Amino acid sequence: MTAWKLIIHGGAKEIAPEEETDNRDGLAEAIEAGRKVLVDGGTAIDAVEASVRVLERLPVFNAGRGSDPTVRGEIEMCSAIMDGASLDIGGVIAIQEVCHPVSVARALLHEAPILLAGKGATRFAREIGAELCTLEELKTADPASEGGETHDTVGAVALDSHRDLAAATSTGGLAGQMSGRVGDSPMPGCGYYAENGVGAVALSGHGEGIARLRLASKIMHRLNGLTPDQAIADSVAEMMRVGGDGGGVAIDGTGRIGWAHNSPHFAVASVVEGDNGPAIWLRKQDR
Ligand code: GLY
Repeated sequence: MTAWKLIIHGGAKEIAPEEETDNRDGLAEAIEAGRKVLVDGGTAIDAVEASVRVLERLPVFNAGRGSDPTVRGEIEMCSAIMDGASLDIGGVIAIQEVCHPVSVARALLHEAPILLAGKGATRFAREIGAELCTLEELKTADPASEGGETHDTVGAVALDSHRDLAAATSTGGLAGQMSGRVGDSPMPGCGYYAENGVGAVALSGHGEGIARLRLASKIMHRLNGLTPDQAIADSVAEMMRVGGDGGGVAIDGTGRIGWAHNSPHFAVASVVEGDNGPAIWLRKQDR
């Protein structure tokens, strides 16, 4: 048995002073949902899904309810989940009408396809009886999204007491994005990855830049030698080559947790077995 660990994020973004409390409260609720799973002996996969479901429910985060609308005013969401023990992946791309994309991704985890897109993803969600939300329920009056400001992807990584790792992401994409646009979040090796003994990572930020640099893949490689903090910092620093900013959370193969960002803020919470409570930050300088 090993000590379980969980680190989650609510996005690489700029947080206005009036949004700080909602970000902190949302992270506290989300990390508690994942913590409870791990305390009860549950799996890393169950923990990351539980935390991301909370972040998807809260309008302050750009995932599920609160997703940024496309240029056509629609909500198209992407999400993925990966099991580091089996390398199973489930992911949905530009899915509509569902409250919790991460749970649809989770339902795909043991199916033959790893990714479903568009109408096929939404049809799969209906077939498995996923909880449905109307467009009005998914859209919110959050001033950040109305102003066209990006307030990005959420994610979580966990190590459970059996030494299994998992990662999950969920996003509404970029504010005002083209219909059908896909960023890094559902793509393995770009927005996330998990492999037992190596590490698990979940990223947030400018999806085109993260995908062009295959940042999750690079972070996994760098975890063999660097601390998680340094592996992520070195990788997001590369985004200067292609534009955009980002951040990530990770746990390495030995159980070290870390995070880094080059965005103005990065809302992060972590908890480790034995801690009195979670630690919550809105940017690295505050640590
Ligand atoms: N990082 C989320 C996106 O670019 O879609």
